[in-house]
Amino acid sequence: MRMPSFKLTDTLFACALAFSTSIAGAQVIGYDEPYRPQVHFSPREHWTNDPNGLVYFHKEYHLFYQFNPFGDEWGHMSWGHAVSMDLLNWQELPVAIPEKDGEMAFTGSVVVDRENTSGFCTPRTECLVAVYTGYRSTSQGTQQTQNIAYSRDDGRTWTRYAANPVIDLHTADFRDPSVSWDEKESRWLMAVSLAMEHKIRFYTSPNLKEWTQLSDFGPAGDVDGAWECPDLLRIPGENGTGDMWALKIGLNPGAPQGGSGEQYFLGNFDGKRFTASSEPGSHGWTNYGKDDYCAISFNGLPNGAKPILIGWMNNWQYASRLPTSPWRGQMSVPRRLSLLRDDAGLAVVQYPVIAPLRANHSDISTTKGGSLSGNMQAPFELDLQFGRTSEQVFGIRIYTDEQHWTEIGFDQPKREFYIDRTRSGVAITPDFPARTTAPLIVSRSYDFKLIIDRSSIEAYAQNGTIAMTNLIFPASRNCRVALFSSSGKAVSVRGDRWKLRSIWR
Ligand code: FRU
Repeated sequence: MRMPSFKLTDTLFACALAFSTSIAGAQVIGYDEPYRPQVHFSPREHWTNDPNGLVYFHKEYHLFYQFNPFGDEWGHMSWGHAVSMDLLNWQELPVAIPEKDGEMAFTGSVVVDRENTSGFCTPRTECLVAVYTGYRSTSQGTQQTQNIAYSRDDGRTWTRYAANPVIDLHTADFRDPSVSWDEKESRWLMAVSLAMEHKIRFYTSPNLKEWTQLSDFGPAGDVDGAWECPDLLRIPGENGTGDMWALKIGLNPGAPQGGSGEQYFLGNFDGKRFTASSEPGSHGWTNYGKDDYCAISFNGLPNGAKPILIGWMNNWQYASRLPTSPWRGQMSVPRRLSLLRDDAGLAVVQYPVIAPLRANHSDISTTKGGSLSGNMQAPFELDLQFGRTSEQVFGIRIYTDEQHWTEIGFDQPKREFYIDRTRSGVAITPDFPARTTAPLIVSRSYDFKLIIDRSSIEAYAQNGTIAMTNLIFPASRNCRVALFSSSGKAVSVRGDRWKLRSIWR
């Protein structure tokens, strides 16, 4: 098919970001403040960081999250809670696990105890068990231990185990248990971080109460900051590629884009020990932007389902400075994971769950003269495939006025896919303006899918083998999208755009 081509200044479409205070037709009051995410979960008010305890149970997806019930800064860490039938439209529920007796509830997992191995489920046959880090700070120093709590009413209320903690190494930096059911061995597995030693420690348990140490992984890969939020998961292959184990580890600070980031290792878990593969592509970054941290995967998905990951769309460098009110912090959209093996090596493919929110489709290849009619309002999705070109640098700019834009493109001489937010809007701290980059694989296709919300751009490039998420705080509510190329000559592109429905309306 012949692709239409546009020049440097051709406008693909114009859009006005929806900062209107009107909530006509809204089913939910609020959620319409400046910068309020419309397709990403954020709590109605107060602070959130990492997603916790993602689990699918009795037809509901549960999102627990680090939450301060008393304010919009980090503190009093408790588990907030929201549920959804479709991973997108969330209903916020009361706090699930509050801070108690001076012990905060840090990050962890929730598992479905289908066979009542814990004995907590009686008289029911199955129930939810949360495994979380308890954090105490005293004049003697800080302590982190692993603890459990259970719920017999589909996550609505939780009881802490009377004999907590279940693992105590009498140490300060031991956190973020990721627990899953080991189908093969019929036992529980835990991956938990010894943050300052750059080690992930594996444990096993028959009943979630008594844990036996199996092995350690690390130090390995990048060790410039603390290791946090591990996740051990099995990723299914595409096109006949076999499954592989992956170990994902948060790194803060010291990630390549500055501040918080997450590396993954592909390899093998033999029931006891994780061994990283040395194949090209087996060590990478879950996200090449600045704003995706402590992503974890869902437990309890039906057998054979692809893993689904949600991350905290933020960076500890400036998390406390986000200019949002009355909430601070938001989650990424969920992403389904699979594994690709091609001539360039291995890659984790991430595909965002967004289709149920799509409305008003436009086919970009049918556009006459390069302009799309009509205004767009965030949130919207853009899927673009570029033709091969000799242009050195090309892509799109999303303008909010003539002085402000975000550039998303390919830099062929540098072999980079990038998002440049240095001119996007409010630079909330000196660390905020950035051009984030990912290695461009020349043999893969030149495409990207963008999810543009009121204060973020999520990009999935080269068929989803690159994920790049960046917050933006545009100074103006107006925007238009234009193609650009370094020489100003035409580049060819085709694709789709969709208006996305707000999850709050
Ligand atoms: C990562 C993290 C975790 C910890 C939680 C505390 O963002 O530091 O390691 O459990 O946040 O809120």
